[in-house]
Amino acid sequence: MNLVNEKENSFDVDHLVNELKAAALNENAAEKVKTILQEVVTNPEKLATIPSFEDKDVILFEDETVSIWHCRFAVGQTVPAHDHQMVTTVAVYEGIERNEIWLKNEDGDLQKKADVNVSAGDVLQMGPNDIHSVSCGSDIDSQAIHVYLGELTTVERSLFDPQSGEVMGFDDDNYYRLTRSE
Ligand SMILES: [Fe+2]
Repeated sequence: MNLVNEKENSFDVDHLVNELKAAALNENAAEKVKTILQEVVTNPEKLATIPSFEDKDVILFEDETVSIWHCRFAVGQTVPAHDHQMVTTVAVYEGIERNEIWLKNEDGDLQKKADVNVSAGDVLQMGPNDIHSVSCGSDIDSQAIHVYLGELTTVERSLFDPQSGEVMGFDDDNYYRLTRSE
């Protein structure tokens, strides 16, 4: 992941970030964030202002109330199951981001809750306890804005291997070791 280069950060992305920052402070933050993102991914004029981000993950903004990322999943790429410990909203504007959503059962094993293909124009919201693994479901890279209602890079999170049941601390080493590219 890379922090966004300020010079590449256009006025309109700044505007979106400011809108999301304000929404995160609202008592109905999850709903407000979803509404803003739905508007962006279904509005061609707004989409046209999003700069081209080539890195997989770019952090557009983060403070203690909200983290705003641009996420690109390459064709054939799968990232391991992980939690966020906060409300997470995924808004896809290009391609398809395939989300497998898991729940931990009483034994601590992961059970598949849903397979959700989030297509361009769609928004998916997950609760703090939801676990997901993500891959590109299209024949072009998927591109999305992900918004987390908290300070994602500082919170203690986990990675999961649904096959073996292994649970690991979320760190870059484990994450990239378990990330697959076809
Ligand atoms: Fe995630």
